[in-house]
Amino acid sequence: MFSRLVKIVNDSLPLFIKRTYITRKNREELQEYWRAPYDGKNIPSEYLKDRERSIFLLNLAKRYIEEGQKVLEIGCNVGRNLNELFLSGFYDLSGVEISKNAVEMMRKAYPDMAGKIKIYNGAVESFIEDFKDNSFDLVFTMAVLEHIPTESEFIFSHMARIAKKNLITIEDERGLSWRHFPRNYKKIFEKLGLKQIQEISLRDVRVPGLSSNFVARVFKK
Ligand SMILES: C[S@@+](CC[C@H](N)C(=O)[O-])C[C@H]1O[C@@H](n2cnc3c(N)ncnc32)[C@H](O)[C@@H]1O
Repeated sequence: MFSRLVKIVNDSLPLFIKRTYITRKNREELQEYWRAPYDGKNIPSEYLKDRERSIFLLNLAKRYIEEGQKVLEIGCNVGRNLNELFLSGFYDLSGVEISKNAVEMMRKAYPDMAGKIKIYNGAVESFIEDFKDNSFDLVFTMAVLEHIPTESEFIFSHMARIAKKNLITIEDERGLSWRHFPRNYKKIFEKLGLKQIQEISLRDVRVPGLSSNFVARVFKK
């Protein structure tokens, strides 16, 4: 009850006030957290739920890519989003995920998909420079860039570099906490040469499992 009240008060404060008292973790601390979340939140089994958010992603992606095209999800956790694409006929899939437990759960929960896709099990910071230019027709993230700390922002230019046609970001752009880094991804990716072609504020469209702080953006190269 008390923690709920603290959350409501915290959520309603403007960002410039929150920035004065919230201490965010650094890259090493955040990577350690995501490798094995220790606070009872964000455990892999939780990510098997909320299929609706994967269906939202699928419907958005299907407007821009076709079967047979190459797709990369950064921060795929148990692979619920990738499995939704797989069930819809997208087979050339890759995922980057830092948590070993999440990838193990992916292999149990979605064995057909997990057996056919490419999984990079480690921090995106350590893989992304090795991907060639224009390697994936679509690169997407859902609730991942919001946890990427300032020191790791170099990954954004690589995302723009490796995406051949489209980039989709579905991110919390307003929440601020020890593991939330709010940003406007339109400003970021347009500066990197992409063009935003669709924007959906989740204040206007409700998607179970994603709060109204989220904005879905589609970019093209
Ligand atoms: C909030 S979860 C979202 C999971 C999934 N995209 C979804 O929508 O269900 C964030 C995911 O990003 C992963 N992640 C966080 N930092 C990462 C990093 N530096 N490299 C790779 N994965 C990371 C976490 O382990 C976690 O699976």
